[in-house]
This record gives sequence, C-alpha cells and structure tokens, in this order.
Amino acid sequence: MKDLKKEVFIEILDGILENPYIGIIMVDTLGNVNIVNKTYLEIMGKQEEDVLDKHILEVTPHSRLPEVLRTREVHLADHWPVNGHDTIVFRMPLYKDGKMIGAMGQSLVLGAAGVRILSKKLKELEGELAVYKDVVSSIYSSKYCFDSIVGEDVNLRNVKSIAQRASNTGSTILILGESGTGKELFAHAIHHASPRTERPFVRVNCAALPDSLLESELFGYEEGAFTGARKGGKPGKFEMANHGTIFLDEIGDMPLAMQAKLLIVLQEREVERVGGTKPIRVDVQVIAATNRNLEDMMKKGKFREDLYYRLNVVTLNVPSLRKRPEDIYLLISYLLPKLNQRLHTQIEKVSKEALKLLCTYDWPGNVRELENLLERAINLADLNQDSCLSPEYFPSLTRLVAKPVLGIEPVGDENVDNLGEAVEKMEEETIRRVLEKTHNNKAQTAKILGLNKSVLYRKLKKYNLISDL
Ligand SMILES: Nc1ncnc2c1ncn2[C@@H]1O[C@H](COP(=O)(O)OP(=O)(O)OP(=O)(O)O)[C@@H](O)[C@H]1O
Ligand SMILES: [Mg+2]
Repeated sequence: MKDLKKEVFIEILDGILENPYIGIIMVDTLGNVNIVNKTYLEIMGKQEEDVLDKHILEVTPHSRLPEVLRTREVHLADHWPVNGHDTIVFRMPLYKDGKMIGAMGQSLVLGAAGVRILSKKLKELEGELAVYKDVVSSIYSSKYCFDSIVGEDVNLRNVKSIAQRASNTGSTILILGESGTGKELFAHAIHHASPRTERPFVRVNCAALPDSLLESELFGYEEGAFTGARKGGKPGKFEMANHGTIFLDEIGDMPLAMQAKLLIVLQEREVERVGGTKPIRVDVQVIAATNRNLEDMMKKGKFREDLYYRLNVVTLNVPSLRKRPEDIYLLISYLLPKLNQRLHTQIEKVSKEALKLLCTYDWPGNVRELENLLERAINLADLNQDSCLSPEYFPSLTRLVAKPVLGIEPVGDENVDNLGEAVEKMEEETIRRVLEKTHNNKAQTAKILGLNKSVLYRKLKKYNLISDL
C-alpha cells in the first residue's frame, strides 16, 4: 500500500476505534486484553489500566471471547445487556498469515427501540436459517446407523432389534424415553437401515416451531396464502420427505389443533398446502419421538388418543442410563476417543475412582449428560496436562456425593455448631487445597471447582483467602 493510502487507512481505523457507538476490545490467544477503546471502557465503567493486560474474564466475568478463541466460531449479533446498556455484540477470531492471533468483540450500543428493531430482524433471519438448515440436513440424510448405538444391556439390545425389524417394514414408530437417551439416534439409525436410506430424512422439531408456523412448515403453503408468503409457495416437510422418512421430534409438544390435522394426514397419506385446493399424495415413513408421558397427557386431555394409537404401531422404549449402569463403561470407551479427536486432546483413560463415581451417579440427563461431563473433564485434565480423568475433573459429581472431596475429610462436629458452618468450613478448605494445587491460579481454580470466576472471587474475599494470592 502506498504511504498516503496507508495514512488514510489508519485514520479510518482510528475513526472506527473511537466511534462512540461501538465498544471494541481485542484479546490475544491467551485471552489477555491488548486493545480497548473509550466506548468499551465507558460501557463497562472502567479505566484503561483496569482492563489492559488483564485476562478478559477478570474484566467481564461472563465474556464469551474465550469460547471464540477455543472454537474459532464467529458470533453474529448477540443481544448482550451490560451495565444497563443494551448492546448487540459481534465476536470473531483474528487471524494473521493464516494463524489465529486473538479475538475481537465489538459491542454496538443501542437505545431500546434499536434493539427491538434489530432483534425482530434477527428472529426473521433465524427463522429462514432454520428452514435452510433443515433442507441441508435432508440432503445430507441420516448420520447414524445401528452400530453407533452403543450398549449391551438386554433391554437396549431388545429395543435395537425391534427397531431393526421395523426399519424394513416401514411401519410407523413411536420412540419413548427420557431426555438424552438416544431417541434421535434411533430415528437416524432406522432410516439408515431402511430401504429409504437414499431418500430424504427430514426432522421436524415440533417443540421449537411457534404454533402459527407449524402448519405451514409441515404442509407447506401456496403463493398468496398469507401476507409474506413466498412467491411460488413453499413445500412442507411432508412433501420434502416424500419417499423418505419424516421424524416428528418432541411430538408431545405439538398443540392440540395441529394434532388433529396431523391425524388426518396419517390416515389419508395426503397433505394439503395452506391456501391450496388439491391434496398431494405423500409416501413417507413416520417416526415420532418424545420424552413426555403421553398416557398422562391423554388423561389430562393434552394429547389426542386417536393420534396416540395411530402413532403407536411399533413402540421403542429406550431405557435410561441409570437402568443400565454396565453400559457406562462401554459408552466411555466409545466416547473418549471421539471426544479426543474433536477436542484435539490425548486423554488416555478414566481412573478407577472416577469410574466408581460415574457408576454411582443417577444420570438424569442420560448419555447426553455423560458426553457433556466427559468433555468438561477432558478440558480440565488437559489444562492440568494430565492424561487420566480422576474424580477431581468431575467437580459437579464430587460436589453431589457426600464423600470426602479431593481427599478432604468432612469436618467433625466438635469444631462446628451447625450444618451451615460445617459446609462453609468444608468449602473454605476445598478452595484452599485447589489454590495450592494450581499454584494460586485463579482461572484454573474456578474451572476445577466448576465456579464462575466472580463467584470464586466472592468466596476468596469471604474466607479471607485473597492474601494467599
Ligand atoms: N446408546 C448410545 N450410544 C452412543 N451415543 C449415544 C447413545 N445414546 C445417546 N447417545 C448420544 O447422546 C446424545 C443425546 O442423544 P439424542 O439426541 O438421540 O437424545 P434424545 O433421546 O433425542 O434426547 P432429547 O429427548 O433431549 O431430545 C447424542 O449426542 C447421541 O449421539
Ligand atoms: Mg431428541
């Protein structure tokens, strides 16, 4: 760039940096702040020296910039209220010569009206995006097969074999089970094993769509059906799934009026677009799933009995993880290498004590919760350059189990008068031990204890542990 051009360019950049409506902050790859503008300082009510060279989480404990550094994802237009200001935040990783050198956050400060306009626009865009995402996933078809369903428990194997048989017959299938047990996994596997595998697999999340959109999403609409209807109309999910599989997820959350319309489609195997006049024949395999108790809902008049019987041709009751503890070990062996690959880590194993801990927990969130806890533990162990997952890396579990935590014995009653005091003593001692272990690294201590950094600070003050830092 010629010098003059460069000067103008730098002036423009300065102008952007000093824009009174945009707060800008940049961090390096470690999350330490190296650039911040006046507007940002004003929004935060801070001085430059409180911010520069500090870790971003010390400046704003809830900042999502560390997440951007980790995932390299761009966050577009997040609504973020700060100190009474409504802001719209953009976050992005920064690259130089193809290498990430940090991340930047830009907060656009708006009045209340501005936020309303922008968030309305955003909602509309999100709606469109959801449609495209679904189209893409229908092109990609189903991702999992029966081999991806891990577990040797008798009941699970039984459900698998019923599902395998049903995938050949094309019968309507109702998948029941608690949240995170693998219902969606089953739906994918059934489609994958069926003769329809080369045809679309279309998922509809009945809980996510507002009532007003559900009908046109499922059945499509004709041009001019309502204001805002797209030119040429739009096919519904049933049409898109023609000759393939439609997966009606969270069916228990479908409003009653839609249940009646769905029943007709299932009986007639024909759909009529909103604003349309002629029915369209569809040939689809229907799989529905829910974690709700449909029988209870029927008793309360919230789920139609006739629809229930129409869907419940083949039922798959996916067992919860707590009913098949022996599968926990198998799932860990399956998930660990997968997570290592995704997170670029090299955790080799789970310690015996940690396994014991995992087997005594009752897993309300089932396999999804196991996956999440493992991911978190891997991150913590990696931070500690440890290749084995020991109980300390499952802080949410160690806190739940009434056993000595991190080798600290519960306080005997000779020292304390009441339970509150005992808990406080235990908490203080635990924080002290972890601080020792991390050589007073506050960020690491907060992570290991599963605490937000600002909460940790409060506790450090409360127990007068600040002087230790
Ligand atoms: N048996 C299994 N083997 C391997 N992975 C599993 C198994 N069951 C569940 N998972 C994984 O757990 C996560 C949750 O599964 P899924 O989304 O299918 O649950 P769900 O029953 O649909 O839950 P929800 O009711 O909350 O929608 C997914 O990442 C899935 O791959
Ligand atoms: Mg699901």
